[in-house]
Amino acid sequence: MLDLKRQYRELHRELLDAVGHILETQRFILGEAVATFEREAAAQLRVAHAVGCSSGTDALWLALAAAGIGPGMGVVTTPFSFFASVSAILRAGATALLADIDPTTFNLDPAAVETVLNGPRGASVRAVLPVHLYGQCADWTAFSRLGKEHDLKLIEDAAQAWGAEWNGVRAGALGTAAAFSFYPTKNLSAAGDVGMVTTNSDEVAERARMLRQHGMRRRYYHDEIGWNTRMDGFQGAILSVKLKYIDGWNQARRTAAGRYDALFTAAGLAEAGPYPVHGVVLPREVAGSHHVWHQYVLRTNRRDELREFLASSKIGSEIYYPVPLHLQKPLKSLGYSEGSFPEAERAAREVLALPIYAELREDEQQTVVAAIAEFLG
Ligand SMILES: Cc1ncc(COP(=O)(O)O)c(C=O)c1O
Repeated sequence: MLDLKRQYRELHRELLDAVGHILETQRFILGEAVATFEREAAAQLRVAHAVGCSSGTDALWLALAAAGIGPGMGVVTTPFSFFASVSAILRAGATALLADIDPTTFNLDPAAVETVLNGPRGASVRAVLPVHLYGQCADWTAFSRLGKEHDLKLIEDAAQAWGAEWNGVRAGALGTAAAFSFYPTKNLSAAGDVGMVTTNSDEVAERARMLRQHGMRRRYYHDEIGWNTRMDGFQGAILSVKLKYIDGWNQARRTAAGRYDALFTAAGLAEAGPYPVHGVVLPREVAGSHHVWHQYVLRTNRRDELREFLASSKIGSEIYYPVPLHLQKPLKSLGYSEGSFPEAERAAREVLALPIYAELREDEQQTVVAAIAEFLG
């Protein structure tokens, strides 16, 4: 599914030098390496501020808290994402409200969000948290219109979307604040758990910096209850090395996605969608979007059998995500049930992610498509 060693082999000299430098300086927490990465990252995303922290999950919490979201406030998000998209809202003390997804992009559907805003709990909503799922931005034209009309904060879950764009603006610079993850399987990856908040607001950035260090502006003088969620020097140094290559790696992913499209089409398997019949519905890059293909996710209605068949041929695949968030045990208290979000529930039954990463070879993609053709044929 993903061979991280291929990237490491290319970079190992540079990475060892970067890690060695941190050992020389003995600056393990924040420090110059993290500050440098934050500056370089903000410049690359064309956003004013970047604030490193301990994980993408913490980045979501920090972004919400720094934007002033807390108890008594509603935040609308998607039921079809990683768990943290909802749990971070709850950890910020706010109320999570869900709305269904668009079956073509799998992203939060702005029309469904509008229905929530106009519904009985709409008046409590202070923010929307769209997720740029699989590396494609949520429909930011619609979300920024909703944000303005309803005076809402927009928090981007950009964990899967380093380098993605909406109408030329990079993920991370679209909303009030954004959260990134550098978990080792992400497009831009660290050597452990790391995350980052980005924002164009001086005030939100300053608050995020304070909250990541126990609410301190001045050492041992606490203005608020924050938490310890700092980025460490090793990770900052490693990420600065990889930042130089990420645009090229994302371009290689785009090439690989185009190759899958061509191979599935040539095999006669591609269907128009949004729902599969006998073949596969391929993922689409929508107008205005620059997709970075964190995942290449197709739909098929024989998903579980196909996955077993691929595994028996030693081909990796993954399901992101098999259970929509409103049906996860600890989130039952949100008050939704089976049938609440039919598109998310259907997607959870049909999606299958295939191997995609910068170093994936063309012959490997041919093998994947040939195996799927054999199964579905
Ligand atoms: C959409 C999404 N949100 C949030 C996260 C949380 O990031 P982390 O694993 O770095 O805490 C992830 C990644 O795991 C993710 O994919």
